Amino acid sequence: MPKKDYRSILDNMEIVERVDLELRNLYTKYGYSRFKMGKFEEYDLYSGTRDFIPTEDIITVTGQKGKLLALRPDLTLSIVKYFRPEEKSREKLFYSENIYRAKKDGTYSELRQTGLELLGDLNEEEVSRVVLLAALSLKTICNDFVLDISHMGLLQEIVSSVPQEGKEDVLLAISQKNTSAIEKLGQEYSISLEEINTIKAIATLYGNYKDALPRLKKMPLTTKGKEYLLEIEKVCKFLAANKVGSKVNIDFSIVNNMNYYSGILFKGYIPGIFSGILSGGRYDGVMNHMGKKGGAIGFALYLDELRNLEMESPAAENQNNELDQYINIALPKGRLGSKIYDLFDKCGYSCKEIKEDNRKLVFENKRKKVRFFWVKPADVTVYVERGTADIGACGSDIIGEYTPDVYEVLDLKKGRCTMAVAGKKDFKDDTSKTLRVATKFPNIARGYFERESRNIDIIELHGSIELAPVLNMSDVIVDIVETGKTLRENNLEVIKEILPITTGLIVNKSSFRFKNQRIMELLKKLELEV
Ligand code: PRP
Repeated sequence: MPKKDYRSILDNMEIVERVDLELRNLYTKYGYSRFKMGKFEEYDLYSGTRDFIPTEDIITVTGQKGKLLALRPDLTLSIVKYFRPEEKSREKLFYSENIYRAKKDGTYSELRQTGLELLGDLNEEEVSRVVLLAALSLKTICNDFVLDISHMGLLQEIVSSVPQEGKEDVLLAISQKNTSAIEKLGQEYSISLEEINTIKAIATLYGNYKDALPRLKKMPLTTKGKEYLLEIEKVCKFLAANKVGSKVNIDFSIVNNMNYYSGILFKGYIPGIFSGILSGGRYDGVMNHMGKKGGAIGFALYLDELRNLEMESPAAENQNNELDQYINIALPKGRLGSKIYDLFDKCGYSCKEIKEDNRKLVFENKRKKVRFFWVKPADVTVYVERGTADIGACGSDIIGEYTPDVYEVLDLKKGRCTMAVAGKKDFKDDTSKTLRVATKFPNIARGYFERESRNIDIIELHGSIELAPVLNMSDVIVDIVETGKTLRENNLEVIKEILPITTGLIVNKSSFRFKNQRIMELLKKLELEV
């Protein structure tokens, strides 16, 4: 068949199939061979690496002779298992398979993963070439991609003076670009102001490698940290020499498990898809954990995401010219939302109509290119996580409950209150019984009582929580206390304050990349107003 006909077949294919085929072709060209895997893997492979893939995400099946099998939840571990360093010093493999994960609601997801792994003796150039292949994979999908680079070794150096028990929390705050959480953790773990400032600078650093690396070089880094920085620089230069340098950003909010990842990490984004479509990094720790000699680096693309690409979304429009793009802001309906709108108004992002007495939910200022949505407070995270809104204002109670995959870039210092355990005035905890806890924040409540080692029964309600202990349906509640009036008028009192609540400005991770200039401009103005 002449070449031209191949092209027309490709053009008519569904996007996922087409990209998949082009990627396989790309990886073959670079000397990678296909590694075909079946649906099942021995369950034992995952039981030893619980924090690589949580075992609750794994769907198990009983095979012949009662052997416990797993519907493959991941492909990397199977490839590491297959690798025989004693027979071959280096393995270059790619795959295109479905993976299966159990979901919390009892259903399961089947996802297409296409990617590659380089294992064994790794040299600098080969490592850089894997990152280049990640960039070229994104380019196969569209020219407007970004590839963001981080380094787990450098991050570990940055948090080296944080006590072991606080490291994960600090890394989590870095991954959320949450500077107020970093400051609080700094106080909690008595970290010096200079170190906290470096951690904050690392968390907020974002930009093309050409601008970001000189800024990184000015930071006080350890000797090892400086070596890692050199490693990042070499990778970036390699990418630039291969004509993709303009797409490469430095972003340390890409964080991964410290036990498994030690080196370069990267994540790829394309406009219109509101979570990363590619994720990868150097995982020598997994090799070590599985008793294999050598290092490993690889990445995977989640191609199913491409099926949503055609769907129209306000946040996906005009992605090419950033300054022409609307900023979509989700505000929590109600009194708090109105106060937060006033903040935006003060910064010059006004929409006068929003203050009029009407039942409209969407308001636009065409000149300022800003659009506000009134959203139920608990739904703000959903709109922002899915990219329908680029940014949103949301109580830290909601963020803590739903742990959305977003950045928490600013404390708006509004709607301050406390999350507390409360009960009747004469309440005495009888530890011989399971404690009945009524709440609309089951995850926060569960987390708190787990830390206290107290066995509880959650009664999930949607409002008027105070009624539950009054009518003896629960022993205590976990709820928001603002003025304390509701508790007082129902003869209840605070037993223990769990955490302070404030309102945070959250940002969609893809919008942060593709509307960065506009979002940073807004952020700077808001910082001056709060
Ligand atoms: C919240 C919270 C408490 C009350 C606390 O309820 O759940 O019930 O406010 O405020 P206070 O300390 O100032 O009395 P909300 O008004 O959101 O209504 P809900 O009961 O429907 O959740």
